[in-house]
Amino acid sequence: MLIRIRDRSEPAPSEITPRALFENRRLLMKAAAMGLATVPAGWLHAAAERRKLQARPSTLSTLEKPTPYEDVTTYNNFYEFGTDKADPARNAHTLRTRPWHVVVDGEVAKPRSFDIEELLKLAPLEERVYRLRCVEGWSMVIPWVGYSFSELIRRVEPTGNAKFVQFVTLADASQMPGVRSTIIDWPYVEGLRIDEANHPLTLLTFGLYGEVLPNQNGAPVRMVIPWKYGFKSGKSLVRITFTEQQPATSWNLTLPQEYGFYSNVNPDVDHPRWSQASERRIGEDGFLKRKRRTLMFNGYANQVQSLYAGMDLRKHF
Ligand code: MTE
Repeated sequence: MLIRIRDRSEPAPSEITPRALFENRRLLMKAAAMGLATVPAGWLHAAAERRKLQARPSTLSTLEKPTPYEDVTTYNNFYEFGTDKADPARNAHTLRTRPWHVVVDGEVAKPRSFDIEELLKLAPLEERVYRLRCVEGWSMVIPWVGYSFSELIRRVEPTGNAKFVQFVTLADASQMPGVRSTIIDWPYVEGLRIDEANHPLTLLTFGLYGEVLPNQNGAPVRMVIPWKYGFKSGKSLVRITFTEQQPATSWNLTLPQEYGFYSNVNPDVDHPRWSQASERRIGEDGFLKRKRRTLMFNGYANQVQSLYAGMDLRKHF
């Protein structure tokens, strides 16, 4: 986190409304604006759970203005908690993030299970401000906290057969009401090619805005792959498997004509039902209007395009 020096004109900390009180007031106003009589339990719970994570700033961060915390944590896709954008913030308080283990197995010399506390301390945490572009046509700028996924890869020593990585996320109907629906075959799974997984931008993520991930954003640990559509970034990971064959991915299994394995942000390849040429930035652009031109690889072309040299990205969409 960047250190901020207090300006003389700013009120002293003692004059500022205690954060919890401020949060509750803010949530109450938001609930009223949404026509709700009370603040949903999930929102209060999320506010109470906020815990700091120390992280050093990263040179890989974009200098663009981050999307307000409120938008980042209340406008979410996490189908295990419902399909409406407001559902995850409303429902994800039932997710139990401790104890939590992530199994790493498959084509590795050192398969093992990591306790979440150990995983959190495996490498120094960095704050990485990344753009996230959803396949639906909206985007955000989010200060994530985590470390490059390559840090984990090197500790488990992939074998020569490891060509891909599959990410498996939690599917527990007792904690996740959406898992009772049949929109996809649970668990939600995603995958990367090993060189994509090893790319320094690929982030194993534990927090955002200097705090542990709110449940609705994929607590306690998720992937963030900033040059791909948001759905590649699986939330609430429980298993990471190194494979020789290209692994199954949820949206590719569900709608293969619409979602390919690669899913790189590409303004030249339209989704069969809508254009991908532009996007609207949540919290800035008009609610329905798209104002921004979408950039190839979500603006990360300089860093990642060499991964795809010689590939036809219309075929491998
Ligand atoms: N991971 C799981 N397990 N379940 C999901 O429904 N949705 C994906 C991705 N990861 C999803 C998921 C989609 S479509 C997007 S756009 C991003 O999470 C959204 O992340 P955010 O809500 O934290 O911004």
